[in-house]
Amino acid sequence: MHPAHRYINYLCPMRIDIITVLPQLLESPFQHSILRRAIDKGLVEVNLINLRDYSTQKQKSVDDYAFGGGAGMVMTIEPIANCINALKAERDYDEVIYTSPDGETLNQRTSNHLSTLNNIIILCGHYKGVDQRVRDHFITKEISIGDYVLSGGELAAAVICDSVIRIIPGAISDETSALTDSFQDNLLAPPVYTRPAEFNGWKVPEILLSGHAEKIENWRHEQSIERTRQRRPDLLE
Ligand code: ADE
Repeated sequence: MHPAHRYINYLCPMRIDIITVLPQLLESPFQHSILRRAIDKGLVEVNLINLRDYSTQKQKSVDDYAFGGGAGMVMTIEPIANCINALKAERDYDEVIYTSPDGETLNQRTSNHLSTLNNIIILCGHYKGVDQRVRDHFITKEISIGDYVLSGGELAAAVICDSVIRIIPGAISDETSALTDSFQDNLLAPPVYTRPAEFNGWKVPEILLSGHAEKIENWRHEQSIERTRQRRPDLLE
C-alpha cells in the first residue's frame, strides 16, 4: 500500500450508506474476502439502513398502489425523503445513487470514479420502482448492472460496492493487481497459468517459464489485445 493512500484513507474512509427494504440480504457480501478486509482496515465504512425505520405508517409500509392504476406497487417518497434528509443532515454526499434497470450501465470507468468519492448513498429499488419525484429531486446517478431485471436493487448494490471497494488503494494487497484487471486499460486481461507446468500433456506457454520479465510483459500485452479483438472488439474502437 502506498503510505500516502493509507494516510488519506485513515483520516477519511469512504462511506457507503445503502438504503434497502432487505438489509439482511446485503449482510453477507461484506463479510468475506476483499470487502471484509477493506472494512476491517478502515478503508471503507458500509452502513445498511432499513428503509422501514423511516416509515411513519402503522404497518411500516414503504410502498403503495400506482396512481393511474396498473399492476405492481410503487415505493413511496415519504420514508425515502425522511431517510435521505436524515443522512444529509449528518454529512455531505458526493452521489445519491438509485439502482434500476433503466439507469446507465455500470462499467469500470464509473466504478473507478465512485471509488474516489468520500460519501455515497445507494438507494435499492424495489417493486415497480420509486415514485418519480424521488428520482427527480434526490437522486444524482442511476445505475443498472446490465440489461436484465432483478427482483430488487440489493444485488445490484452489492455488485456496485464490490467493484468500487476492491479498487480503493490498499483493499487488494498486491497493489498492481487491481490495475491489471480486465477493462482497466480498456483491454481484457491476458490468460493466466499456475503450477503444474504440464497437466495431461497440456503445457503452459514456454515464455511464462523463461523468467524474462520484459518478454513476458510484451506477450501478456499481445494476448490482451488479441483476446479483446476476438471477444470485445467494441473496446478497441
Ligand atoms: N433492479 C432490477 N434490475 C436491476 C438491474 N439490472 N440493475 C440495477 N438495478 C436493478
